[in-house]
Amino acid sequence: MDLSTTYMKLELRNPVLVGSCGLTGTKEGVKACADNGAGAVVLKSIFEEQIEAELGAVAREGAAYPEAADYINRYGMRNAVSRYLELLEESNREVDIPVIPSIHCFGVGDWTGFARRLEDAGAPAIELNAFVFPSDPSKNGREYEKVILDLVTAVKERVSIPVAVKIGSYFSAPAHFIKELDSRGVDALVLFNRFVRIDFDIEKLKITNGTMLSTPDETQEVLRWVGIVTPFLKCDVSSTTGIHDGASVVKHLLAGASTVQVSSVLYREGLGTLSGMLGFVVRWMKKHGFEKTNDFKGMLNRSGIDDPGGFERVQFMKASTGT
Ligand SMILES: Cc1cc2nc3c(=O)[nH]c(=O)nc-3n(C[C@H](O)[C@H](O)[C@H](O)COP(=O)(O)O)c2cc1C
Repeated sequence: MDLSTTYMKLELRNPVLVGSCGLTGTKEGVKACADNGAGAVVLKSIFEEQIEAELGAVAREGAAYPEAADYINRYGMRNAVSRYLELLEESNREVDIPVIPSIHCFGVGDWTGFARRLEDAGAPAIELNAFVFPSDPSKNGREYEKVILDLVTAVKERVSIPVAVKIGSYFSAPAHFIKELDSRGVDALVLFNRFVRIDFDIEKLKITNGTMLSTPDETQEVLRWVGIVTPFLKCDVSSTTGIHDGASVVKHLLAGASTVQVSSVLYREGLGTLSGMLGFVVRWMKKHGFEKTNDFKGMLNRSGIDDPGGFERVQFMKASTGT
């Protein structure tokens, strides 16, 4: 069985990536992911604020803004840029799978120049986590979309390596927006960013953070959209959120994803889960007579369905009437 796949023009030995998370924040972590079979690794993100803070700090070293320097030191932000470049270079030396750096960002700024430094440090591609949360009632959907479109344009202008964009799902017309990102030349879309859940502590009357880790049922919403958008996209799609086993990997490839990214299941069950997932995919391919992942990639996307919206409606009618 041939599990190899192409993602953003990178040749990968298999389609299961370890997504950006704490497990990919050190060179030892990256090596452990590679040793356990990952097809590629997305490094823990560096935050836009970290890059900007350091650029500012360098510019006014020893000068007029002691509070800012204080803040940077207090939050351990100093040297984040050089530490991140070092992590990328060391990880690349350590493993022979692609190591993709990730920038967690929310708008165009001086930090975009850092993308070029990642390329110079040997990054095979870059992932941007475009953290845009449309909560401001004075802003319309187009304004939020424009932030991400501008981000993509700014970073694509600075680098020649492939750029993936990880977005959330809170858009009024996701299919339209995703198509527009594709037409701006993104090389891959990572669908979808999982926002940290919130919860309420009803005794202390406080807002609290819900769990950082996903559950398997969360992947169904991703599966729906991957199946809807892949028929009209030129760029690749990487599915993320709620992929916890080999069957889920198969489903996302059937929906049209080129790769999947996993994090939560590795926190819950350990890195050994990766080989279990890959073993399942191999057995499933054998059973169904597929030799390569390309033989079945996109087989269950919505390309044969003229009106995916109508299709969704019929599914609801069927489910709600029990027919
Ligand atoms: C502890 C933890 C840290 C994470 N840190 C990042 C990050 O720095 N950048 C990012 O783009 N995503 C980050 N993520 C999100 C994951 O990359 C992934 O998109 C999300 O967890 C959904 O996938 P999953 O269901 O397999 O966990 C983090 C996830 C976890 C659990």
